[in-house]
Amino acid sequence: MQIKGYGLTNTGNHRQQNEDAFLVDNALGLYIVCDGMGGHEAGEVAAQTALQSAAGYLEENAEEIKQARQSVNPVPKMASLVRDAIQYSCRSVYGWRGRQKSDRGLGTTLTLLLSYGRHAVIGHVGDSRLYLLRKGAIHQLTHDHTLVQDIIDRGGLTPETARNHPLAHVLSRAIGVMESVQVDTLNLEILPGDKFLLCTDGISAFLSNAEMADVLKQHPGQRANRHLIEAALTNQSTDNLTAVIIDVFAEGQELAEEEERATQVLLKIDTLQSMYLFKDLSLPEIVRFVDRSEVVYTKRGQRLCAEGDVDDSLYIILEGRLRVIAGDIVVADLGEGSHVGEMAWLSGTPRSASVVVTEDGRLLRIRGKDFAALVYAEPVTGVHLLRELACELARRLASSNQIVKHVC
Ligand code: CMP
Repeated sequence: MQIKGYGLTNTGNHRQQNEDAFLVDNALGLYIVCDGMGGHEAGEVAAQTALQSAAGYLEENAEEIKQARQSVNPVPKMASLVRDAIQYSCRSVYGWRGRQKSDRGLGTTLTLLLSYGRHAVIGHVGDSRLYLLRKGAIHQLTHDHTLVQDIIDRGGLTPETARNHPLAHVLSRAIGVMESVQVDTLNLEILPGDKFLLCTDGISAFLSNAEMADVLKQHPGQRANRHLIEAALTNQSTDNLTAVIIDVFAEGQELAEEEERATQVLLKIDTLQSMYLFKDLSLPEIVRFVDRSEVVYTKRGQRLCAEGDVDDSLYIILEGRLRVIAGDIVVADLGEGSHVGEMAWLSGTPRSASVVVTEDGRLLRIRGKDFAALVYAEPVTGVHLLRELACELARRLASSNQIVKHVC
């Protein structure tokens, strides 16, 4: 699988200096954008210092990244390597800031993508953004770390009312403001045909997702960067503008092999997206779930669990059917998109019913401790999942009541 990036930056029509910085390192598979703040060259230095220290840290670990490229499964170490690189970059900017006593508002955003083989890991702090264009649809993979976004997350504002908010650009997390920073990471299986866009808010705040998707679909590589910048300037962008586009592709025999894998990856994501349980989750939230789960193949007649078993895995049906039996009563027949096993996890008790396979298929299994870790590590995703789980349980309880009424 191959990956190639192109980057472009523009000072824009309203600023004297360009406080954005970008890196395209196709050999290492590393792509970064930074948007510095602080004025009087401080923002420029902050962005460059952050970018160079993160890139330097990862270059020093190039051998480890090279080895990870051979791996079929995502390598957890890559996410911690990216986190460490960004922490190092934060300490470097913070150290520089300490020596410049007058530059009190100094700091920078930093968003990076590191690809290794069939995977990429994303590291993110601030309000620069990473988008993925896949199968014609555009997805924002990063979450803005701004005060306004935090209020939206808590339900205090809608994205529409927040659009022209005077505090829209005040960051709640940035590189170099404190000695360390909380870093978001996301592991992602990359597919041929994927196109990523890393950009600063001089572009993302002045173009809609649909406008960005149109440019990415119509123009290849560097031409797309030029069109994005022109379109944002036409829409009165008041900031510096930076875009890095990353194309993922495969050729010949490799393309045929990759297409089979792409089908499997998309099946997992599509099934989850079509499920009631996941209906309010964004693509990155679903990807985080998939990242912590594994595929289990099932055969008709196989017993997945027996009533009274002690085990807290949750299963989601990707393909096939399952039957839930309590005592000797069939309480449910479940198909694609349904889930089982949540009760033991939620209540910490043994399995409430037996589950058998009635049609060959595939399940996505997530162990209880991994599900709990996801809920705690990603509270917004966790609240979404738990709420949907509670709704589904209420529906099942209502339908069980019907069965009880019928049997009695
Ligand atoms: P758990 O108790 O962990 O293991 C058995 C699973 O069967 C249970 O979680 C639920 O996912 C599922 N289950 C139990 N009772 C019902 C029901 N009445 N309707 C649908 N599914 C059920």
